[in-house]
Amino acid sequence: MKAYIETYGCQMNESDSERILYLLEEAGYKETHDIEGADIIVINTCTVREKAKNKLYGHLGNLKSLKSKNKNVLICVAGCASQDLKDRIIKDFPFVDIVFGTHNINELPELIKKRISSSKSACSVKDNGFDPDIFKVKRRQDFKAYVPIIVGCDNYCSFCIVPRVRGRERSVEQKKIIKYIRELVEQGVIEVTLLGQNVNSYGKNLEKPSNFPILLEKVSDIGGLKRIRFMTSNPKDFSEDIVRVIKNRDNIAKHIHLPVQSGSNKVLKDMNRKYTREGYLKIIDNIRTEIPDCFITTDIIVGFPGEERKDFLETLELVKKVRFGRAFTFIYSPRSGTRAAKMKDCIPVEEKKKWFNELVEVQNENSYEANKKFIGKKFEVLVEGYSAKGNLIVEGRMENNTIVNFKGSSTLIGKMITIEITEAKAFYLIGKRP
Ligand code: SAH
Ligand code: F3S
Repeated sequence: MKAYIETYGCQMNESDSERILYLLEEAGYKETHDIEGADIIVINTCTVREKAKNKLYGHLGNLKSLKSKNKNVLICVAGCASQDLKDRIIKDFPFVDIVFGTHNINELPELIKKRISSSKSACSVKDNGFDPDIFKVKRRQDFKAYVPIIVGCDNYCSFCIVPRVRGRERSVEQKKIIKYIRELVEQGVIEVTLLGQNVNSYGKNLEKPSNFPILLEKVSDIGGLKRIRFMTSNPKDFSEDIVRVIKNRDNIAKHIHLPVQSGSNKVLKDMNRKYTREGYLKIIDNIRTEIPDCFITTDIIVGFPGEERKDFLETLELVKKVRFGRAFTFIYSPRSGTRAAKMKDCIPVEEKKKWFNELVEVQNENSYEANKKFIGKKFEVLVEGYSAKGNLIVEGRMENNTIVNFKGSSTLIGKMITIEITEAKAFYLIGKRP
């Protein structure tokens, strides 16, 4: 039997899909990349913005004809959207067999049995606590791994649906994380990415208290790991201790993703982000003083309710000042059930799009300038696979997560090699083996 899994959204969803695949393999399925030949199809969804939700509805529409051709294929909707929209999915797409939420991944084998033995769809989205087997996954790659260290979020940024769909914040025990990473290293993993909505608040509600800098140090102590990444850090509780640990450890990537969201104190307050523009800039100053070559990336929302042109200009000015290596920019998208969705929003979408384009233009220039500085220098890259640009071009990642394309073969995949950068684009680099 064959399983087809499609994943939308963030790394946490990628990681969840690896857990889903593990459970499906235990149940006797093998992964396929051919949707038509699949016996079970799992769509692991995102709902952080309206666009992601619409994409899901479009996709489900397409699956209807597949289901009418093959009545036996099981169609499952997982992830954040099913958590939020289960009733609508069941009502509007009655051919969907199974809906399960972010808290119910470990119930999938049961749900499959239930669906097969009944004429009704099977559904589970209740928060049933921590998945005790969170690390039992089928990894897609041998040499790198995601490690969820904290799930859920307690921050309630007013625009964000995540706390609603992923539940309260819960940290994985430190001992369990270290044991898992040691096993990964034994299996040949050289890069791990520690995952959480706000990794800085790691450890808060553990019986044996810990915190993120301590965890980071313990992970860094594990011999054999070449690169440790983590995301996301929230500026609200980003401590100087984290900067110290990154600075002192060669195997921790000098890359910090620190979403600012806005450069206006009024907007930050309305967003419930719990830091100010000045506070954010102070963190950046500290990072740049301590780790001058640290690559800093961010997320920014344009057109938050009540944001005026003058607020936007403060964001633009902050972006020019900080010169982020990269920024993920979004037009505000109201999510029902969040506080911001009830706020008055007077700026027309067309105007927001203009601001958005202004921001993108400035940031693209920053990204290009940042990339140009790498030309002529040599860097270690972890080769991840062939590039979409064609055969014999492989793709590796630098410590700062930037992609480098260069001539190479499959024998390099999973290896860390030195590459000289020869050309810069806004979003990736081109290099050669020196
Ligand atoms: N935990 C992360 C963010 C998760 S969501 C953090 O603390 O930053 C990823 C990004 O999506 C956010 O940083 C934000 O920039 C964007 N985002 C979240 N909700 C959004 C919304 N309603 N409209 C537009 N962008 C949104
Ligand atoms: Fe969302 Fe804010 Fe948490 S952006 S995931 S509520 S830190």
